[in-house]
Amino acid sequence: MDEYLNKGIKEIINEFPQIESVLNDYDIGCGPCSVGICLLKDIVAIHRLSGDQEQELMIRIAKTIRSEEDIKIPALEKRIEAKPKEFKYSPPIQKLVDEHVLIKRWIALIPKVVNDLDVETEEGQQLIRDGVDMIRSYADKFHHAKEEEILFKYFDENLEILKVMHEDHTHARGLVKAMLEANERKDQNAVAENLMAYRELLTEHIRKEDEILYPWMDNQLSTRQVGKLFAKFAEADQQMGFSPDKYEHLIDQLEIKFEKRRIEDGRI
Ligand SMILES: [Fe+2]
Ligand SMILES: [Fe+2]
Repeated sequence: MDEYLNKGIKEIINEFPQIESVLNDYDIGCGPCSVGICLLKDIVAIHRLSGDQEQELMIRIAKTIRSEEDIKIPALEKRIEAKPKEFKYSPPIQKLVDEHVLIKRWIALIPKVVNDLDVETEEGQQLIRDGVDMIRSYADKFHHAKEEEILFKYFDENLEILKVMHEDHTHARGLVKAMLEANERKDQNAVAENLMAYRELLTEHIRKEDEILYPWMDNQLSTRQVGKLFAKFAEADQQMGFSPDKYEHLIDQLEIKFEKRRIEDGRI
């Protein structure tokens, strides 16, 4: 069993497809994850199962792998208490969770933007440029940079879950570049495809951070580290050189615009 703890979960699922449904029983959705390079031991630790649940999960996985009744389950390095129903974050982590709210509001607008897309007009093109500016300045420079350049540095960079998060950020940057280029050459289908792919990627990415990664990180950080983190985030925001209010205003305007259109179209 020890050898499997250090294996990537996608590799294990490929070998034993039934393990995907076992993980689903514990709300661990590794199957649809686009990367899936997390090690089994990291997945079990990060999902904050109770000691009993963790033991039960390991037995079920071991039985699937070995098809034997009597199996020795190796102790994992750290056991974490049962997952609380509501997440309580430290102040700096709460700040990142709060920043996700504006990104999620933009993500919620994307299907309406796609439905209304017209890259042949200057107004339609400008809407995409504004959306890209919001993603690049707010989601990436203001938010992802704090994760990559500050928060993640407190942890082992070889941790598989951090590699997955970095990979998501890189993938998102690629989609944004592609959507901007498609906008410039007035390729409506490609703009729509990249917008929807960005929505799907970021929805799952934010869920992983809010529900799995951040609570786990909070659990690892000392009080002193939390204090330092808070100060570093404040310093980073000051050096950013722009106010995030601009993007809050943009999203407010877009929500009003699309809500108004829905009323005019008689859809509500
Ligand atoms: Fe992130
Ligand atoms: Fe994030």
